Amino acid sequence: MADEQSGVPDSTAVRVALWRAMHVQVDPPPHVLEDDIGLRLAAPGEGWRERPDMDPRGTSGFRAAIVARARFIEDLVAEQIGQGVTQYVVLGAGLDTFVQRRPEFASRVRVFEIDQPETQAWKRRRLTDLGYGVPDWLRLVPVDFEAGGDWWEQLSEAGFDPRLPAVVVCTGVTMYLTKEATGATLRRLAGLAPGSTLAMTFMLPTELVDAADRPAFEATKPRAQASGTPFISFYAPHEILALARESGFKDAQHVAGTTLAARYFAGRSDGLRPSSGEDLVVATT
Ligand SMILES: C[S@@+](CC[C@H](N)C(=O)[O-])C[C@H]1O[C@@H](n2cnc3c(N)ncnc32)[C@H](O)[C@@H]1O
Repeated sequence: MADEQSGVPDSTAVRVALWRAMHVQVDPPPHVLEDDIGLRLAAPGEGWRERPDMDPRGTSGFRAAIVARARFIEDLVAEQIGQGVTQYVVLGAGLDTFVQRRPEFASRVRVFEIDQPETQAWKRRRLTDLGYGVPDWLRLVPVDFEAGGDWWEQLSEAGFDPRLPAVVVCTGVTMYLTKEATGATLRRLAGLAPGSTLAMTFMLPTELVDAADRPAFEATKPRAQASGTPFISFYAPHEILALARESGFKDAQHVAGTTLAARYFAGRSDGLRPSSGEDLVVATT
């Protein structure tokens, strides 16, 4: 995982940021999302596009899936802010760059980015190095979800008002957490003010992944393990829906990765298509 001493961020957060940048660099327009600030933050050095996980063809499905989920989240958050929600919480934010790319939305709300202390310290430094800084409307809250501490209290101390509705997102995190940690997080979030929305991704068990995507999906598991960031939790859609409802959410809906593929990638002439393997739950209080 991340290492504060050597100033290294979580490697999974860097990978998805590089995939978002690759999309703009190697896929023809229209771009589903334009994000090259994550690349600037990561500053991976020359040759990053030669990394095996950046292979433009071999990993195009993963790249597209990461861009699709980021676009879905961005549309949801813009819609929520448009409807008057004033608090946006990003769990496991990594190299999320909404604040830097969309200041017209971000400056109208308070954005709370939660991540592991080491990755967050690194990001704070990089934002400063690049001249973005940390504006007053961005609050960085260092939390390790596995450490059992009360991150809810930390969030309040950072200025979060639990009496007001919020939009909370969590992408690419639950597969790295125990089901206990995710369950505890969901129970906390179910206590958000009425009118709040949570969007959270989860990884599917192999048997629910499209047959065509299964070999590549399976191949990622030993690589994740070898990198020190093993996938430890998988959920069937009915399982995560039940978990969200039992945690106290009023409603929970499943959004399949294939739905995002149809929404954002239909009719492309380059054949770019998100691979299946990760879906979303959208829950409301
Ligand atoms: C694959 S990255 C996703 C980053 C971002 N949500 C995105 O979609 O670009 C996973 C993130 O989860 C964070 N994470 C992993 N385990 C965590 C934990 N126990 N507590 C807090 N954050 C954690 C990592 O530091 C990393 O930023």
